[in-house]
Amino acid sequence: SLRMNIHLKYRKTSSTNCIDLKEINMKIVKTIEEVRNITSQWRAEGMSVGLVPTMGFLHEGHKSLIDRAVSENDRVVVSDFVNPTQFGPSEDLEAYPRDINRDAELCEKAGAALIFDPEPSEMYYDDCEAYVNINSLSDELCGKSRPIHFKGVCTVVSKLFNIVKPDRAYFGQKDAQQLAIIKRMVRDLNFDVQIVGCPIIREADGLAKSSRNTYLGSEERKAALILSKAVKLGEDMAKSGENDAEKIVSKMKELINTEPMARIDYVEAVDAISIKPVKKMDGAVLVAMAVYIGKTRLIDNFIFEK
Ligand code: PAF
Repeated sequence: SLRMNIHLKYRKTSSTNCIDLKEINMKIVKTIEEVRNITSQWRAEGMSVGLVPTMGFLHEGHKSLIDRAVSENDRVVVSDFVNPTQFGPSEDLEAYPRDINRDAELCEKAGAALIFDPEPSEMYYDDCEAYVNINSLSDELCGKSRPIHFKGVCTVVSKLFNIVKPDRAYFGQKDAQQLAIIKRMVRDLNFDVQIVGCPIIREADGLAKSSRNTYLGSEERKAALILSKAVKLGEDMAKSGENDAEKIVSKMKELINTEPMARIDYVEAVDAISIKPVKKMDGAVLVAMAVYIGKTRLIDNFIFEK
């Protein structure tokens, strides 16, 4: 494994409220066995472990998850794995951006203790027969156009939970359906981990941060703003008392269709927990969208809770 030296800043420990100087040698680890050895040593020493699962090419959105994890756990593992089982045959698995050196620098600065960067052959046996699936929560939204996606996500996240055995795991609200699915999977399969959802991080002009933003050309980058504009429109309508979810969705679609480079995959209002379509803005409602800007498929959403 590769080693990096980090001199972690002074960190306040909540129990004693004293200042505790920790020196952590951040490691980049490629094997499951080594991750298990290191994390079980930490647990034996009474330390809590946070996990931030990622597919790498880290940005400010990931950094916000790592920061939160570092503030709530003694040790933080960031997994950096472009998971092949969550990509459909015509999707961007090969093109997905990767840069482990840049990722390592970001993790090191943020105070992570370990990056798990396995090869696909380390994570999946050629004759793998067992997968983790979820039923109705994957029927709507992204599940419609990406039918195998959430099976791949649930499988790899379960494997990461079994490998790292974290106390807490951190996921972004940008992938709202993924977050709802993982929470349900953890509940239904009794995983002993607390799932922490973290807010969407946006560029100054509103575009939600995403590794896929790097695919956008300069004209597309401008056109991509239509997603956050539609989010704002929908959220403002809901906040000002519009209770008809279909009306909100259709106004958002109308706005997106004014952008010639945009092609809607979906805009839908669903119950934020069950991911079932709703007609009224009652309870916690997730209004989510996927929109192609050229060939790049981007997602964005808001949750409105009365
Ligand atoms: O959100 C992601 O980046 C991925 O879906 C995840 C959770 C790391 C699983 O591969």
